Amino acid sequence: MLEVNLSSKFINLTEPGELASHLPPEMHEPKSLQSVASIAQRISSHQLLSSGGKSHPMIPELLSYVMHHASGQVIVDLGAGSGEEMLLAAAAGATVYINDISEQELQTAMKLAKTLPPNIYKRIHTIAGDCFELQTHDLEGKVGILICRNLIQYANTAQQNKFFAIIAKLLQPQGQAFIITEADLNNEEKPFLFNATQVVASGMRANFLQTSLLLGVYEATATAHDDENVSWTKGRKDVVYSRSFGAGWVEQQQVFQQMGQENTLKIKQLIKEKKEEFKSFKAGLVSAATASLYKFGPKAFALLSSMHGLQVQEIRYVTRDYHLLNPQEDPRAHNPTLICARICPRPRADQPASASP
Ligand SMILES: C[S@@+](CC[C@H](N)C(=O)[O-])C[C@H]1O[C@@H](n2cnc3c(N)ncnc32)[C@H](O)[C@@H]1O
Repeated sequence: MLEVNLSSKFINLTEPGELASHLPPEMHEPKSLQSVASIAQRISSHQLLSSGGKSHPMIPELLSYVMHHASGQVIVDLGAGSGEEMLLAAAAGATVYINDISEQELQTAMKLAKTLPPNIYKRIHTIAGDCFELQTHDLEGKVGILICRNLIQYANTAQQNKFFAIIAKLLQPQGQAFIITEADLNNEEKPFLFNATQVVASGMRANFLQTSLLLGVYEATATAHDDENVSWTKGRKDVVYSRSFGAGWVEQQQVFQQMGQENTLKIKQLIKEKKEEFKSFKAGLVSAATASLYKFGPKAFALLSSMHGLQVQEIRYVTRDYHLLNPQEDPRAHNPTLICARICPRPRADQPASASP
């Protein structure tokens, strides 16, 4: 009997016996097993092939759950990057759809998919394009598991609403979505944190005030070119990082060198003036963001779900070593780095409650 809840037991998918226990017998033949093992190894050593954006390794307990429930299912990953985890889901028996806005990511995913046996490869598909505008007529009501990791914290409220509406359309009545995010979703209650993240992530130019807030949050020492055009340093290093939507942090050493001292002083002065405000953010981004994640994340997920005929079935927190923890079992779960929400369609009066696909 499979666990309905996500496991808190440490799972190591690079251990051959453990990996094999997640795969159907036809995949136990050495060559097939080896092709899957090398992808599992890549995930576990945080060496995803993704080129756009920071990638989180998939939480092994979640990947294990998905693989155990993969057989015969349709599984979709939105904003999947290079999609390694979906390849394992396909190897475990699912038909998978890997979505990303970047064609390059999808090409990488399909290149890696070719290393799998042909009968697995034919169950791996891509959907190119913006997941907030997804046209999914042929998948509507057919998706058993939907995954989205490390994306919706960058979306604005309108996009988040579209996103939850899409989940509701895609999921079958017994389906479930796993949404993993790192930032505070509740931009109404905690606007500054969310906006600060969003301003940088969406490639918009942050203004002077926004930058100073970012600096306070990130404990960075940085500067600005002028009031509108901002670059900043992170982690007290004399390097400027910039970022565009969906892309990773890019070091801009040269930009930093060209900055005038006047601007540096301007920012430093602003931080000094705002010292009181920053007091509670002494530990920097991680403690500020995670505190609000713990406090507001579940509320934000519940609200968005309820607006779209969905409900939150389970909330789990993810620690910095990317394992799921239960707040009841481990106090480290109170300072999570990510939040993982399991969301499913709200049962209609004439339907039994959803359990697992
Ligand atoms: C931070 S990465 C996360 C990748 C992967 N889910 C992970 O956690 O490893 C965000 C990914 O979302 C993609 N992306 C950004 N905006 C998107 C959109 N509107 N629709 C679909 N994908 C998008 C980017 O190309 C990038 O691959």
